[in-house]
Order: sequence, then C-alpha cells, then structure tokens
Amino acid sequence: MSQSLGGRRILLVIGGGIAAYKALDLIRRLRERGAQVRPLLTAGAQEFVTPLAAAALAGERAHTDLFDRAEEADIGHIKLARDADAVVVAPATANLMARMAQGDASDLASTVLLATTLPILIAPAMNVRMWQHPATQRNLTTLQADGVHVVGPNEGAMAEAEFGPGRLAEPVEIADAVEAMLGAAQQAGGFGFLADRASGKLRERPLAGKHVLVTSGPTHEPIDPVRYIANRSSGRQGHAIAAAAAVAGATVTLISGPVALPDPAGVTVVRVETAREMLAAVEAALPADIAVFAAAVGDWRPEATLGTKIKKDGTAVPPLGLVENPDILATIAGRGERRPTLVVGFAAETDSVLDNARAKLVRKGCDLLVANDVSAEGGVMGGLSNTIHLITRDGAVETWPTLDKDEVGRRLVARFRDLICG
Ligand code: C5P
Repeated sequence: MSQSLGGRRILLVIGGGIAAYKALDLIRRLRERGAQVRPLLTAGAQEFVTPLAAAALAGERAHTDLFDRAEEADIGHIKLARDADAVVVAPATANLMARMAQGDASDLASTVLLATTLPILIAPAMNVRMWQHPATQRNLTTLQADGVHVVGPNEGAMAEAEFGPGRLAEPVEIADAVEAMLGAAQQAGGFGFLADRASGKLRERPLAGKHVLVTSGPTHEPIDPVRYIANRSSGRQGHAIAAAAAVAGATVTLISGPVALPDPAGVTVVRVETAREMLAAVEAALPADIAVFAAAVGDWRPEATLGTKIKKDGTAVPPLGLVENPDILATIAGRGERRPTLVVGFAAETDSVLDNARAKLVRKGCDLLVANDVSAEGGVMGGLSNTIHLITRDGAVETWPTLDKDEVGRRLVARFRDLICG
C-alpha cells in the first residue's frame, strides 16, 4: 500500500448513525496510507461504536466531551481544531450537517468544526428521504458554498428496506477523496477560489451572475417499449462540473440523460432520455454564458420506434435500421445568435486520442475540448477517475494527471472562470 497520506494528520469526526461502524474501517484505510488519525465521537456515535474501539484502531485516544476538564487541560477544542491537516466527518448525519450549516457549537464535534480553518470533507449517510429533503439539500448547498468538500452518498439498498442515495461512501472512496482534497489544497495557488478553506479565507463566488449549462450522461434511444440503445456513460463527470460551477456561484442548468446519480445541490436538473429531447432542452435553457457538452449523446437512433414489443419468432432477427441524431454541440457552437461565450466539448476516444480530438474541436466549432482515452488501457468509461487532455483553439494540449472526477470538475470550472472572466 502506498504511503500516499504519509505524515498527514486527520481529525476524524464520527457522527451518530448506523454507518458509524464503517468509520472504524476508515481509520484502518487512512492509516494504511500513512495518515495519523485522531478520532472524535459525537454522543450519538457512541451509541453505535465505542471510543475504545476507535482509539484502539487509531492508536490515539478518542475525544468525546466538550466539558471534560481533564480533556480540555490536555488538548483543548481549539487545539483539536488546528492540530491536523484536514477534518473528515464520517458519517455526516443529517443532524450534524444541519448543525454545521447553522454554525452550531453545542458539543465538541460542532465546536471543533466551527473553530477550524482546515479543509473539511464530509461523507453524508442517512435515510434516503432525509437526504432528499429540501432542508438537507439546502444545508448541503450552504456547506459547499462554505468550501466544505463532499464525498457520496452512494446509491443502493439501505436499512429499513429502502433504496436510493444515502449510503455512506465506501471507506476507500473516502480515503481517495481525502487525498484529492489535500492535493487540491496544496495547489491552492492556481485553484485558490475552490480550495480556500486551506488558507482560511472566505470563499469567493467567481461565477456569480453567470449561467452555466451542462449536458451529462448517456442518451437512451428506444427500439421498442422495452429496449433501447445506450452507452456506458455514468454522468459522473458532467454532474461534477455542474456541482463545481454551482459552488463557484453560477446559476446552473444540468440537462441529464438517464443516470443513477443524485442531483447536485443548487443546480436545476432537466431530465431527458433521447438526443432529440436533449437538444430541445438545451435550446430551451439558452441563453448561457458557458455551455459544457459532457453528455455521451447517442450518434444514431433506430429509424422507427415500435409501439409494441418486437417478438422473437425463432426465424429471422429483426432489421435494425439507424438514422443519425442531431449533433447538439455542433448545432449550438455553430449559432450566430445566442451562442454561449464559451462552448466546451468532450471527446471520449479509444485511439489516436489527440489527433481525433483536435479534428473534433475544429469540426464542431467549440472553444475548448476535453479529451479522454476510454480504451481498456486508458481508463474505461463510467469510472470514478479521469485522465484528461485539454485542447484549445490554437491546438495547444495540456495533459492533466489522473484525478477523481470531482477534482477534474473543480479544475475545469477554475479554467472556465479564467477564460471568461479574464
Ligand atoms: O462526436 P462525438 O460524440 O465524439 O463528440 C463528442 C462531443 O460532442 C461531446 O461534447 C458530446 O457531448 C457532443 N455531442 C453532442 N451531440 C451529439 C454527439 C455528440 O452534443 N449528437
């Protein structure tokens, strides 16, 4: 295991939810990567896991009480808030998120979270309805605007036989997000407005007053009522760009094909299925200052969609004639009137990535093209990380290291800001 968090000190705030048991595994994962972990348990957390278990796994004592004289004399809450490189909250319950958003300081966890200027990562976990409640989504938007980083929640089966977003991100995903956050904080020079908790400065909202339109996900092109043509796009990159643009203060419209992702906070989401619906939704959402076409739009659709299910009769296979879909990016980039100031295209390629991408930028008339290699070696479509090349109109290429898609989203938004705000 690489010591990718070697020497880093993490204050781990464990909230009171059923997922608290996974925080114990997170301690192990962080330590495997070389981090020192100092656990802090809320009263609720102690109903699910013991301070002793957390302390034994961390090899450090676990903190629990704001008004413990011995503890305050030993290491006060202000010192706890300073004496680390990052604060991780896992699980971040609805209650803890609400208290963080309010600036509450009624217990040790919330006091430390209010007092700290360190980068904070929260890993929310709660019942799906609590997560989707407008109050929680409002709190999430507030926290993101305050510069708090978020990982998850994941979608899946939950306690109480429910299904949907609300599961704690896996410990490995949380550890990856800690690495990405600390990496971003280190480079706060270039991306300062998105990583400024590291310096304790208040967040700027550099895209305030701008309308950003993002397409994301695959399209489904129906063959009959039960079958369709689709692709492997997860929508993660497009959604991450929309989320980062909202955090940067933009008004964001996200036009998404069918995906299994929660709606990013503070974003207007328009759901579509087909390429033609996506084009209509994009047209309806204009004008925009920045348009990012991250969707993997189906190039073709069946020439006819049958109203009833095609039957298998054991003799001939049905003919599947295809017709070309409209090219949304080329249509919008080619407009004289109401063309967004900055039009950004994506190119997922399996071969001759840069040559194909350069040709695509010219053919489609965009200002910036984000190319990625989706061959088996390059990193399959639908994954959590992305290795991208940025191609500008003059043909210059910039290759970025492999980063998680949220971080790619934040850095792209920083670049868009530079391009349109000067
Ligand atoms: O031609 P290709 O599908 O590789 O082009 C990729 C870029 O074009 C992406 O930005 C994608 O969102 C956009 N596109 C589109 N409408 C299509 C096909 C692609 O907007 N019908």
